Amino acid sequence: MTKTDTAPSAPGALPLIGHAGRLARDRLGFLEELRALGPVVRIRLGRTPVHVVNAPELVQRMLVAGNGVEFDKGGPFFDQAAQLVGDGLSTSLAGPHRPMRATLRPVFARRRLPHHTERFQDCALEVSSAWRPGQVVEPYTEMKRFAVAVLARTLFLAPEDRQAVEAVQRNVPLMLSALATHMMVPGSNRLPTPENLRYARAARETREAVDTMVRRRMSDPTDHHDLMSALVPPDCPDAHTEQEVFDQVITFFIGGTETMASLLSWTLHLLSVHPRAYERVEAELDEVLGDRPVTLQDLSRLTFMKRVINESLRLHPPVWLLSRVTLVDTELGGHPLPAGAGLLFSPYALHRDPAVFAEPERFDPDRWIENRIERRHREAFIPFGAGTRRCIGDAFGLAEAQVALAVILRRWRVRPQPGTTPEPLLRMTMRPQGARVILDHRPDRAPSAEARVLPRE
Ligand code: HEM
Repeated sequence: MTKTDTAPSAPGALPLIGHAGRLARDRLGFLEELRALGPVVRIRLGRTPVHVVNAPELVQRMLVAGNGVEFDKGGPFFDQAAQLVGDGLSTSLAGPHRPMRATLRPVFARRRLPHHTERFQDCALEVSSAWRPGQVVEPYTEMKRFAVAVLARTLFLAPEDRQAVEAVQRNVPLMLSALATHMMVPGSNRLPTPENLRYARAARETREAVDTMVRRRMSDPTDHHDLMSALVPPDCPDAHTEQEVFDQVITFFIGGTETMASLLSWTLHLLSVHPRAYERVEAELDEVLGDRPVTLQDLSRLTFMKRVINESLRLHPPVWLLSRVTLVDTELGGHPLPAGAGLLFSPYALHRDPAVFAEPERFDPDRWIENRIERRHREAFIPFGAGTRRCIGDAFGLAEAQVALAVILRRWRVRPQPGTTPEPLLRMTMRPQGARVILDHRPDRAPSAEARVLPRE
């Protein structure tokens, strides 16, 4: 603690480890307790002081006005993430970030969404057509399969890339599981464990696959309007090094799969235990789509489904903890911070702040009815971050979620397997561990939603 450090200190720090034990034992509970201690609270991770920012307006200042000037990417847990994704878009510092974001923006442009929507549909049909009535599935596993397939079919469009993309698809999950261990157990990345050996092999194979794609694209004059064409443009194929392309490919596979699987699996779980909301989603799908396949134009009319997705993101934000570092001596909420200070903030804690959201633990999609949303709600609701580091895949991801739910819920009825209650499993994303659902074909669609018999709430 410096002499000028005026932020209140969280109680319960132990010698040597500080609050690391508390954070490891009950992360979400601890983050919510810290919220009650003030807008900025000091904890210790080992010997390192870290400031936890709890006030939505201060988080906004870090992410929007102060981004790249007073604050940048960095802080606790950042190095472990950077170890896997190198200088990818999400881990690059403000300087190199700007031109790279501009390079990649066209891949997620609105005009690409009609094409992407068709691929979302193909992938959702493919995954769900393998299901059988009465089958018990883990929504997270199924939705991860879907999300990985989506990225393969939207970001890598040259038919010749297929084999290389399959190698990346196969290996990234292995790399992620090792990374999760590295984040939980400091120093574990240096041990020759079976998991680390698998990690090394997976990283090597992924690298070879990406390098193969890069070399092929370098000799291919076709613009496929995909991630690879943005990174290896036909008119300037050596715009980026093989390492830079590799870092971006891994970044997108990670950023676009775990998050989507987490959002969709929590949403399916929430609907399965809230029959009235479930019933409204089904009725809306019947009314808007009838028997037609879902199109991009339909998505804005599926208003209740959008609210359900927002409420799922509020209660279970896939990205539950984020960090930053101060670039210069500055202050937050009147508390001085030296240059190089680590900062943490939690979308989970912000989304459940009773001072912002009434009855924050309650699943209430209607709190997202347009005229009920106030400025304080928008400020505190940051599932995709904010400012120039806001998720580049936000609109893509929301459309992907709507299409997946539309395809699945029109054909299938999802109910929880008795005796299973999901618990949040905290890795890079927060996923519902232990969630299992039973799938049944939807009976013929009834004319009136009220007539449908659903499980008790
Ligand atoms: C429910 C889905 C998603 C959630 C909740 C989510 C969440 C986030 C959050 C919170 C950030 C900001 C991190 C920070 O400020 O430090 C972020 C950034 C990012 N996301 Fe997403 N994301 C989702 C879907 C996607 C998809 C589908 C993709 C790509 C296909 C993607 C790719 C990225 C990338 C590349 C960044 C870094 C952006 C930058 O720094 O310019 N995300 N995401």
